[in-house]
Amino acid sequence: MTMVVCVQVVVENGIVRVTLSIPEGMITGIEYNGVENLLETQNPDENRGYWDLSWSKLGKEHIGMYDRIVGTNFSVVVEDPEQVELSFTNTWDSSSQSDLVPLNIDRRFVMLRGCAGFYSYAIYEHLGEWPGFSIAETRMVLKPSQTKFHYMALSDTRQRIMPMPEDRASGEPLAYPEAVLLTNPINANLRGEVDDKYQYSCENKDGGVHGWICRECTNDSSVGFWMITPSNEFKSGGPLKQDLTSHVGPTMLSMFLSAHYGGDDVKLRFEEGEPWRKVFGPVFVYLNSASDAEDPYTALWEDAKQQMAIQVQDWPYTFPASEDFPKKQQRGSVHGRLLVRDRYINEDDMMADSAYVGLAPLGEAGSWQIEGKGYQFWTNADTKGYFRIDNIREGDYNLYAFVRGFIGDYKYDVNLTITAGDHINLGNLVYEPPRDGPTLWEIGIPDRTAEEFYIPDANPKYINKLYLSHPTSEAKAPAPVDRFRQYGLWERYSNIYRESDLVYEVGVSNYQRDWFFAQVTRKNETKNAYQATTWTIVFNLTNVDHHNSTYKLRVALASATYADLHVQVNGPERYNPIFRSGLVGADNSIARHGIHGLYHLFNIDVPSDLLIVGTNLIFLTQSKRDTAFEEVMYDYIRLEGPLNSH
Ligand SMILES: *[C@@H]1O[C@H](CO)[C@@H](O)[C@H](O)[C@H]1NC(C)=O
Ligand SMILES: *[C@@H]1O[C@H](CO)[C@@H](O)[C@H](O)[C@H]1NC(C)=O
Ligand SMILES: *[C@@H]1O[C@H](CO)[C@@H](O)[C@H](O)[C@H]1NC(C)=O
Ligand SMILES: *[C@@H]1O[C@H](CO)[C@@H](O)[C@H](O)[C@H]1NC(C)=O
Ligand SMILES: *[C@@H]1O[C@H](CO)[C@@H](O)[C@H](O)[C@H]1NC(C)=O
Repeated sequence: MTMVVCVQVVVENGIVRVTLSIPEGMITGIEYNGVENLLETQNPDENRGYWDLSWSKLGKEHIGMYDRIVGTNFSVVVEDPEQVELSFTNTWDSSSQSDLVPLNIDRRFVMLRGCAGFYSYAIYEHLGEWPGFSIAETRMVLKPSQTKFHYMALSDTRQRIMPMPEDRASGEPLAYPEAVLLTNPINANLRGEVDDKYQYSCENKDGGVHGWICRECTNDSSVGFWMITPSNEFKSGGPLKQDLTSHVGPTMLSMFLSAHYGGDDVKLRFEEGEPWRKVFGPVFVYLNSASDAEDPYTALWEDAKQQMAIQVQDWPYTFPASEDFPKKQQRGSVHGRLLVRDRYINEDDMMADSAYVGLAPLGEAGSWQIEGKGYQFWTNADTKGYFRIDNIREGDYNLYAFVRGFIGDYKYDVNLTITAGDHINLGNLVYEPPRDGPTLWEIGIPDRTAEEFYIPDANPKYINKLYLSHPTSEAKAPAPVDRFRQYGLWERYSNIYRESDLVYEVGVSNYQRDWFFAQVTRKNETKNAYQATTWTIVFNLTNVDHHNSTYKLRVALASATYADLHVQVNGPERYNPIFRSGLVGADNSIARHGIHGLYHLFNIDVPSDLLIVGTNLIFLTQSKRDTAFEEVMYDYIRLEGPLNSH
């Protein structure tokens, strides 16, 4: 009698050697450059490299389910001198009472000849008759070795030596569980800093490469370990969606879908029997090495960026064996030019300089920011508004756009059907942003973030040194730092506005200095409770058009978290808001150290009989006040006079 128990499969190409468990499909080993395993070998096999998802049964959204995706069937899809492609599948069994997500999932791992790394992608499928469910998150996770990888990089300016997981355990938990004050870190240089994985979030458009460097990994060289995302077509929420990248662990993520910075609005809901099929990836796990004689951090980061550019060039990849991943000739393109028409700014149509233009599934204008079931294809127009979007998968889409400097969302009224080989010329498209009359005054820049407003210094007790402004040294200009990523800025509001709330005087105040970036609740230390806040805009009018006319207040929000915004014009003695948003937003951007979440635009009629010649007041009340984290962040506010006035 003989028995062969195969528990793992090894793929190698002379550069890298990857080991996966079968049939589960967990990545258990990555050997490279003489290092036996780049992954954390203290972790059990199922906790080194895996895909997972968070989901809920319909009607039971309050019960979060977590599945680490475990294959039940393994097959070799391609095996030739150029390529090996492995498939690990799990199929949902409708007859079982299983508590697994009702999806068939086929995870693929691909190694190519001569290539320093490997690719992974997956096909998710929900079939007719199957129960409904919702997904909050799905991702691929890698856990590099703790003893080796200490330096993390996600952009030219966001790179640093990171704390160890033990440092978080020995530290002091702060107001959100992910935030920890490092009180006794192994690396004493990090004492007194805050660590929080959300301080390393990135917008999809900027998240192409991130990862870790092992300094002196072998006797004479350093090793880089990178997650490269060559396209965002499979990511949810469009170019501005923010998500996690790498963080203490070390952990390296590829987030395909999540509720981060969006909340329940961006979770995907599937009805019973709703058919769905989507390919996530491929993403590329890249390895590089540099001699310690060079500056290995710079050398490896620069090389990783170059590699990302190469992967972007190669997109759409030719190698994936699954027919669900269409190749270049199976895709189409659109091009055209976007103009902006706003007669109160310019008599002529304006070029939509660098506008974001994208194709996303059919929907309302702006729906792309909460969309994740389908694919999205975005680009930036050039300075003259010309755009071209290539490599669009077949299907039905709307074309959407938004333009810095202008409020609102553009949607092209025609539904576009893309078929293979199409090159559609849309000619000139014109976006007419919401506008009823001339600008009487405005606060901020319409750019979907609160970044241009006043961002306070962090409490010195809670800093992340990466986001401190560096003093200008000799010739070198200070590196741009994302000051808004510091922990605890919400508390600074109560420190600055101790007795009364923010008052902004049009024509006197300066929004960069005088408009706090987030309207948060105010801590009343006496009561040990939070209070609602009311911000006041003071402005003068030299005349008021009382002729049957309406003024318009445009309030664009960059973020909202369990907020209820009320707007009142003059008459503070009588609380009688002309607008109530109702409960809005759950993007949690303030707690996650973000400067925006989802975009909202409120267009509010202001009857002229509420206005007077002389000094007027607009009161903005954020009325929810249960915690420190209910907030709105304004993007931009404008008061327009009535039509034909000036
Ligand atoms: C590193 O150097 C030590 C001592 O010289 C040697 O024993 C070891 O084999 C070297 N390791 C590698 C990976 O070259
Ligand atoms: C575009 O598609 C949507 C969704 O199917 C549909 O409701 C709408 O009528 C279509 N619009 C046009 C102009 O055909
Ligand atoms: C704090 O609450 C107390 C008690 O309700 C109140 O008297 C006081 O005015 C509040 N402080 C501020 C700064 O609003
Ligand atoms: C608004 O009017 C008031 C009262 O006339 C005056 O004191 C103030 O300076 C004016 N503000 C601006 C910005 O013109
Ligand atoms: C008042 O507004 C209505 C509706 O816009 C319009 O029909 C009417 O002519 C206006 N009257 C005056 C006096 O402007």
